[in-house]
Amino acid sequence: MLGRKRMGDDGRGSRAHEGRGRATELPGMTGLRQGRHGISRRRALQTLAGWGAGVLGFSSYAFAIEPMWRLAVTRYKVTPRRWPAPLRLSIAVIADVHAGGPAMPESRIAAIVAATNALTPDLIVLLGDFAASHRFRTSIVPPQRWSRALGRLKAPLGVHAILGNHDWWDDLKAQQAGKGPVIGRRVLEQVGIPVYENDVATLVKDGRRFWLAGLGDQWAFPRRPARRRARRSFAGVDDLEGTLGKVADDAPIILLAHEPDIFPRVPDRVALTLAGHTHGGQIRCLGYSPIVPSRFGNRYAYGHVVEDGRHLIVSGGLGCSMLPVRIGVPPEIVMVDVAA
Ligand SMILES: [Fe+2]
Repeated sequence: MLGRKRMGDDGRGSRAHEGRGRATELPGMTGLRQGRHGISRRRALQTLAGWGAGVLGFSSYAFAIEPMWRLAVTRYKVTPRRWPAPLRLSIAVIADVHAGGPAMPESRIAAIVAATNALTPDLIVLLGDFAASHRFRTSIVPPQRWSRALGRLKAPLGVHAILGNHDWWDDLKAQQAGKGPVIGRRVLEQVGIPVYENDVATLVKDGRRFWLAGLGDQWAFPRRPARRRARRSFAGVDDLEGTLGKVADDAPIILLAHEPDIFPRVPDRVALTLAGHTHGGQIRCLGYSPIVPSRFGNRYAYGHVVEDGRHLIVSGGLGCSMLPVRIGVPPEIVMVDVAA
C-alpha cells in the first residue's frame, strides 16, 4: 500500500521535544475499589477492557501494522547552490531494507521494488543495511534472495549501492579479517549492482555530467568500550577526502553515506548528501526521536537538513533493527527531485 506523501522542509528540521510522560491513574480504578454497586464494578471492568484493547491495538500497530504493512513515498525537492539549470534529476532512495521476518520477508522486498520502479526515477540508490540481524528475527532471507529481489530495480541511470554497518557486522569473516569485501557487496555485484566504497562514478542526464560518490561505512568495526557503561565506538572504513579526491572536474557531486554523522565534514562542493541508518529513530513523535544511533542525537535523525547551504536528506528507511517496531516513522521510499 502506498500511503503518505510528504514534502521536505527547507530548515534544519524540527527541534520539537515530546517532554516527559505524565503518570496518570487508570480511569475507573477508584470506582473498582470504592463502588458498592454492580454498575460501578461493571463500568470499571469496561474501562479496564477498553484499556486492554487500546494497549493491544497500539502494540499491534507498533509491532505489526506500521513496520509490516505501511509503505510511504516521501518526496523532497532540493535546489543546491551552483546546480546546473539544464539538469533535472529524480532519485529514488532505498535505505535499510533489513531483509528478514517478520517485517521484511522476500515478498515485501518484491513489493517495494515494484513500487520503486513504478515511480520511474532517473536513478536508484541503495544506502546499505540489507539484512536483518536483530534477535527478534522470525525468518531469514538469504543474501542471494534479497539481492536477487533488489536486482529487479530498474532506472535509466542505473541502480547504485553503498554498504551499511550491519553489512559489516553480519559478516563474521570480514570482522575477523578486519577487511572486506563483505557478503553484501559480493551478492549485489553478482546481480549487476555496483557497490561504492570510497569510490565515484560519473553519470550523464540531460547532456550534463554529475558525480555519484559512495562512502565506505563509518561504523564497520565495533570497538570494545574501555570502561563499562562507556559509549560504544566504531572504526570505519570511510575515507571522505580520498573519495572526493577522485572527482576529476567541477561537475556536481551527490554523496551517498550510510551514517549521516559524516555531514559536518562534507564540503559545500558536494551538492547533496543522502543517508540512512537512523530509521528516524523507529519511534518518532512531533519531530523528536528518543533513541537515535548518532552522536548528534536528533540533529540528523530524519528528513531534510540544510546547514550552511549544504543539503542532507536522511531516509527513515524500510526495515527495523534492534526491535521490530515502528511508531510515527512508517517505512518509506524517498524520492528526491534535484533541480536548479
Ligand atoms: Fe539500519
